[in-house]
Amino acid sequence: MSLSKSKIIQQFNRAASQYDRFAQLQGDISADLVKVVDAYAGQRKDTIEIADFGCGTGTLIKALAGLGYQNLFGFDIAPMMLEEAKQKCATSVSLVCSDIESLTAADNSFDVIVSNAAIQWCQSEKAFSEIGRTLRTGGRAFVCTFGPQTLKQWQDAFSIDGQRRVHTFETPDRIASSIRSAGLKTLSIETQLIDVTFKSVDAMLDSVRRIGASNAQPNSAEDRISKSDYRAVKANFEKTLQAQGKLTLSYEVITIVVESLV
Ligand SMILES: C[S@@+](CC[C@H](N)C(=O)[O-])C[C@H]1O[C@@H](n2cnc3c(N)ncnc32)[C@H](O)[C@@H]1O
Repeated sequence: MSLSKSKIIQQFNRAASQYDRFAQLQGDISADLVKVVDAYAGQRKDTIEIADFGCGTGTLIKALAGLGYQNLFGFDIAPMMLEEAKQKCATSVSLVCSDIESLTAADNSFDVIVSNAAIQWCQSEKAFSEIGRTLRTGGRAFVCTFGPQTLKQWQDAFSIDGQRRVHTFETPDRIASSIRSAGLKTLSIETQLIDVTFKSVDAMLDSVRRIGASNAQPNSAEDRISKSDYRAVKANFEKTLQAQGKLTLSYEVITIVVESLV
């Protein structure tokens, strides 16, 4: 899978100021991750060093700071997402513009790495290689990402001319192989299909577009949909809404816990 970094940066820069308002599912998963990290690390709040890979607007890291964690680092590739995070988080939280696939952090830097809804924008092999490199021996990473069933209703609706208009998500098997290649031990990898429902077509469209989650493959067809095709897709969604009383978008949420052995 080849992704355009400049497109990813552009999409998330554009989405930054409204991201929190529309990223309902991402916010819910983030809150769950905070609980899991706290259950693991809660006795070592003063000393443990925690990094959030793809921290976005800083929701997760702010929550950890609120629980008393002292040594927090957030990395994100989109400067405007980091600007939002800076406004939200105390100055003691270190926020750095950096690419997960080649992170500007030394080897063995962190005791815990957490990442929510970000690694799907990377090649998992590179992302887990960087997790393996920067995680200390015995350290753990808690990662939530998305699998190929994600946004299938969107893909079905928009594939008017057989073109792919949804991001290509890696399979759990491929991700598991990337984890092994990085020399990390998988403690758990679980997949869950979550259906998010909407009461209006605009709310459904906004939940993807307003958070920067459009397709970022180079020359992706999404940008080139004609106005009339777009109107037809919207009209079809309206029909589904009338018939079913709701619209649904599915997310294949992959939850991963890994440990560094070296
Ligand atoms: C859907 S948002 C999730 C943000 C946050 N983790 C949350 O839970 O709300 C994805 C984030 O990943 C960042 N991102 C995408 N690719 C990245 C990369 N290669 N390196 C660092 N950050 C990346 C985006 O800029 C964006 O802020």
